[in-house]
Amino acid sequence: MRNLQFIFVALFGFIVTSFNAQTRTEIELKEGWKFAKGNHENAYQSAFNDSKWQTVTVPHDWAIYGPFDQEIDKQIVAIEQNGEKIATEKTGRTGALPYIGEAWYRNNFSMPQIKPGQKVLLTFDGAMSEPRIYLNGKKVGEWNYGYNYFYFDITDVVTTSNTLAVKLTNRELSSRWYPGAGLYRKVKIIIKNEESIKHWGTYITTPFITQDLAKVNIKTKVSGNQFKLITKIKDASGNVVSADTTTTCFGNEFDQNMAVKNPNLWSPETPYLYTTISQLYSNDSLKDEITTTFGIREIKYEANKGFSLNGNIRKFKGVCLHHDLGPIGTAINKAALRRQLTILKDMGCDAIRSSHNMPSLEQLELCDEMGFMFLAESFDEWAKPKVDNGYHLFFETDVEKDLVNLIHATRNHPSIVMWSSGNEVPDQWGADGVKRAKRLQDIFHREDPTRPVTVGMDQVKATMESGFGALLDIPGLNYRVHLYEEAFEKFPQGFILGSETASTVSSRGIYKFPVEKAVSKQYDDFQSSSYDLEYCSWSNLPDDDFILQDDKPWVIGEFVWTGFDYLGEPTPYDEQWPSRSSYFGINDLAGLPKDRFYLYRSRWNTSDNTLHILPHWNWEGREGETTPVFVYTNYKSAELFVNGKSMGVQKKNNDTPQNRYRLMWMDVKYQPGTVKVVAFDDEGNMVAEKEVRTAGKPYKIILEPDRTILKANGEDLAFVTISVVDKEGNVCPTATNQLKFSVTGKGRYRAACNGDATSLEQFHLPTMKLFSGKLVVLVQSDKEAGDMRLTVTGKGLKTANVILKSEKIESE
Ligand code: GAL
Repeated sequence: MRNLQFIFVALFGFIVTSFNAQTRTEIELKEGWKFAKGNHENAYQSAFNDSKWQTVTVPHDWAIYGPFDQEIDKQIVAIEQNGEKIATEKTGRTGALPYIGEAWYRNNFSMPQIKPGQKVLLTFDGAMSEPRIYLNGKKVGEWNYGYNYFYFDITDVVTTSNTLAVKLTNRELSSRWYPGAGLYRKVKIIIKNEESIKHWGTYITTPFITQDLAKVNIKTKVSGNQFKLITKIKDASGNVVSADTTTTCFGNEFDQNMAVKNPNLWSPETPYLYTTISQLYSNDSLKDEITTTFGIREIKYEANKGFSLNGNIRKFKGVCLHHDLGPIGTAINKAALRRQLTILKDMGCDAIRSSHNMPSLEQLELCDEMGFMFLAESFDEWAKPKVDNGYHLFFETDVEKDLVNLIHATRNHPSIVMWSSGNEVPDQWGADGVKRAKRLQDIFHREDPTRPVTVGMDQVKATMESGFGALLDIPGLNYRVHLYEEAFEKFPQGFILGSETASTVSSRGIYKFPVEKAVSKQYDDFQSSSYDLEYCSWSNLPDDDFILQDDKPWVIGEFVWTGFDYLGEPTPYDEQWPSRSSYFGINDLAGLPKDRFYLYRSRWNTSDNTLHILPHWNWEGREGETTPVFVYTNYKSAELFVNGKSMGVQKKNNDTPQNRYRLMWMDVKYQPGTVKVVAFDDEGNMVAEKEVRTAGKPYKIILEPDRTILKANGEDLAFVTISVVDKEGNVCPTATNQLKFSVTGKGRYRAACNGDATSLEQFHLPTMKLFSGKLVVLVQSDKEAGDMRLTVTGKGLKTANVILKSEKIESE
């Protein structure tokens, strides 16, 4: 559920979202938080002296500031799902950032006097982890799973002047990736009437859709009785397109069917959103009013037909994403999320899987608005452990309430088209696991009968035998391309989803020779080759997935591991320090595209052309040596020229999986100069060309912001890509210059990232080395509008400046 039409007012340093003066007030507890690591026994008491604690704003990730340290959460384990039998030391598995241990947050806040008949809720969109929550010295609640949304009724404890204290505990050996630390998502207070619509009490579905008419079913749960509910549906321009008044309440639930004529259907290509406004009256007095965003769309999963959206069969062109946002860690930030989705959209991606936990509400809102289908996942573990202190500790006591909150908080998002109850859970083995799979799927069906449930399965053979795979709505295969046919034969559903695919590894701008396919290959510099031929023993190359997607009508799509690099899991270097972040991303940790971006773009983005050459052409010392050239393109054939000399025409063909999807000139000998590709259309006409040149010495710094006008809200971000060029303006692809950053005016330097998985430079310090000639600086707006200037300097380089602007916003 999402509420629109906010009025933001700065009041006592809080953001107050006023919905309707009579009915609801929402206060975001954002500023004025005090924070300290460690166990502070009396910190729950109001009188506790926190004056020496650090002042922070929430969302906040306490561990992202580092420093990186190989001793942190060093795990001596055999990773069973990777086929390991012997335990070895894994250093950067959770990112080597200091997230382990206890910490406290405290916030003193004022509130209007609560009137009789009013109710106050305290809501958290997530807290990492095991939050214990105290208000005015009293414990008001706790939650174990760090990724979930939860809330408590604090009416009896809250007064006009309050102290909120939250204790968080992150155990070692509790994760397989960097989970972040702290109050990393929003904390809010909602003041409303006791007689009101329940929190997450609105449930909107669209059970009947034709071109002329859609039925919108709206269930509204309320507290109290003797009500009248008026519901209006508005289209995207704000026109009321349907209205209904009812006084019939079934127990505590209203159930309305409303007609929308000539509905605009939601899809990734047309992300059309409607809103409902629900007004609850008691004896003609307005008790509550909320706004909920939804979309009208039909999803179907049918045997031998596959997946269809609004009647059109399509396959998921999806990526898996962990929740960290690279250099700003897990602290939720809408600008950073929007940038990720903008990059993915350009690649032609149409779906996201929130691996392996509940997504942020902000990410779902953006997927609704920008047009991405969503596979919302819940757990990486059920009752059987993958890591010593993982979710299995809480499974029996918490799984029901964790799922109910996930479903209730997110089920109105049209982007969500599928749930996942788990990822590669070791419970795939044995009869108990089959029962658990059914139990969790039943909870999803009970709370939301409109969407199917999957599990990402890696033990495919075991799940064929046990019945685990057969009972799922959607059998999801993680990798195991060789088992797709057999799974399709044995499972009854009539289709297979590639719930996790590829796990190809590469480092942006790094190329290794000789160019050959390799499994879990390691090099002395702890980088992986960007010729996109290296993968893991359990995984495969992108081309192997493409073949299944293209040739098997019963494969309903794929979710590539992963859209962006993430902190932690530095396979194939998980035993090598200083590797501390992943190599799996299609884009690096800074959000810069690796070559693979163009391989996916060449088949997923069907409205733009792609023509991309790799490697770079700066190979001093390799003159005369074999330096293969690959071209990722949607065109079927192209001719390559080195210094004007033709290297011949290549055509996509079926000789090998790579020949089918890439154009490859394997015998090119390196000579400095230019490498140029000319692409042909199906009739043999030259239609596009691209050239890469050998660059000279780095001379000048170049700054390219993704946006130049920001919101003056104290949290908006511009991502400025920084590169260096030679005197002729050629990009220097191997530059490693140390650069320095400063921001003046109405903004501040927030962080930098160069995408090097082995870098131990701290993101928040205003200096960093280029990696493969590039890095990204994040500039954050102030609350005051105006200009901000980013200056970047480097020894021996021409300095660069860019001016960004921020504008005041009334509403968001
Ligand atoms: C999968 C797992 C992911 C990640 C990936 C790396 O088996 O589901 O979380 O570990 O392997 O290839």
